[in-house]
Amino acid sequence: MQSNEKKVLLSIRDLKQWFPLGKGIYNKANDGISIDIYEGETFGLVGESGCGKSTLGRTILQVYKQTDGRTMYYGQSIDELAPEYVRHTIKNLEPMRKELLKLEEKRDKFIEEYEKLSDEQKIEKTEELRLVKKEAYDALYDITSVVGGFIVADDLKPVTEQYLKINDLSRKLHSLSLQRDDKNVILADIEYTYKDDPAKGEAKIESAKKAVSDIESEMEKVREQLKEQHAVLEKMREPLRSDPRFDKYEQWKDDGIDLARLKNEEMRQLRKDLQLIFQDPYSSLNPRMSVGQIIGEGLLAHNFFKKNSPRMQDRILKVMDDCGLAPYFVHRYPHQFSGGQRQRIGIARSLATNPKFVVCDEAVSALDVSIQSQIINLLSDLKDQQHLTYLFITHDLSVVKYISDRIGVMYLGNMVELAESQEIFDHPLHPYTEALLGAIPTTDVDQSRELQVLEGDIPSPVNPPSGCKFHTRCKYCTDICTKVAPEWQEVRENHFVACHHILEQNL
Ligand SMILES: Nc1ncnc2c1ncn2[C@@H]1O[C@H](COP(=O)(O)OP(=O)(O)O)[C@@H](O)[C@H]1O
Ligand code: SF4
Ligand SMILES: [Mg+2]
Repeated sequence: MQSNEKKVLLSIRDLKQWFPLGKGIYNKANDGISIDIYEGETFGLVGESGCGKSTLGRTILQVYKQTDGRTMYYGQSIDELAPEYVRHTIKNLEPMRKELLKLEEKRDKFIEEYEKLSDEQKIEKTEELRLVKKEAYDALYDITSVVGGFIVADDLKPVTEQYLKINDLSRKLHSLSLQRDDKNVILADIEYTYKDDPAKGEAKIESAKKAVSDIESEMEKVREQLKEQHAVLEKMREPLRSDPRFDKYEQWKDDGIDLARLKNEEMRQLRKDLQLIFQDPYSSLNPRMSVGQIIGEGLLAHNFFKKNSPRMQDRILKVMDDCGLAPYFVHRYPHQFSGGQRQRIGIARSLATNPKFVVCDEAVSALDVSIQSQIINLLSDLKDQQHLTYLFITHDLSVVKYISDRIGVMYLGNMVELAESQEIFDHPLHPYTEALLGAIPTTDVDQSRELQVLEGDIPSPVNPPSGCKFHTRCKYCTDICTKVAPEWQEVRENHFVACHHILEQNL
């Protein structure tokens, strides 16, 4: 598939996860990561132990509140979720634009001064330049992602008013859709209860159906109103199109959801879409809950079923069957299972809510090699059946090659290389990737050991080396590497690398 046919499910920009250690000291576990994850792909994530893989997986899922950056999710649209932060932006368009103009002026002045510097001085100022550019870029994105080309309007007040109308309607639609889902659950329970004798339950079924259809017709009305208000907005754009900057800003419009800016309750509603499979299935399974309870927990939390729903058992057994678990396991407890079976339970729990995106964090690393391939096969089958997208984290390169469409290589909090799986193995362009590939064990011995393949200690993410963080261990290091962090660039089609001296001999 060509990249332009692929739909982006998650777009991560300059993501930072700095764990505070006190007194302005941080563990920079993720230090400015930018990647897109496509719908339906398996994105393999590799790197030595402690490089920030688990942190990245968990931060994307917002298990940790990210320190900086954007995590855009396209599995639902802004109009569907109508999050609070969009409303906040709409209400503050004018002051935000003022701030933007200030930041752009600051940036332009900085660049003017920067251009006059000697090469030596320029190197000193590179990081500062990057920050000044980023500030202005972020401020521009915050506005244009919502209003696009409207930013060139002389007066933003009518735009704000129109957007608020649309936002009100979106919120109403969202709240109605939650009510509709709730009534549908009740309806399904009643239908199930009377499935053998529908005539007896006719009155109840009819009234539950009516409750659903009443809400649906109200939703239809709101949708119509939304369409009308969007049309008004489109008309308001027309006179602005003659402005030469209009098209450029219009392209910035973004109907994805910035997960990092959601409130807890908004994130909770999306949680069923975004799941995690852990490395250690034992410690992550509550020993006091039966398999049925473990799988049912998420289903109840996300209102797939009401408590004591007569239908839930069927669903649990179906999920168990999909994951290769026998029905009679349903009343057993985690300690009664082997490692491989426990991992199946963990997978069943994560997939029960029909997620769209799943982070598999070392999901097979703790298992025997023979069991590993069973679980990998299970994960790939489930992915095909349920149209899942995986972030597959592993320190084991032989596993990642087999399962991934693309592979991202991390080093000390940064992504250093990203390309299609075969391309990474055939044409590694980053010195660290080359070293990792050179260290793949040829036997199965020691596969459970986390990667530690290169000579020299891994520096600490608390106080990482200046410039390129890999420079203390890189045999190609030159002066610039110690001073300037290399840019993340697309050096071949769909092949990204951050290095001043990419390995051209591997091209
Ligand atoms: N919750 C946390 N609080 C503070 N530091 C953390 C936390 N989780 C991970 N770290 C630190 O972040 C760095 C990256 O860890 P991690 O993401 O677990 O790496 P990996 O999964 O690649 O082995 C490590 O230095 C680790 O000690
Ligand atoms: S930027 Fe320099 S130090 Fe870093 S990986 Fe490339 S060659 Fe090595
Ligand atoms: Mg980890």
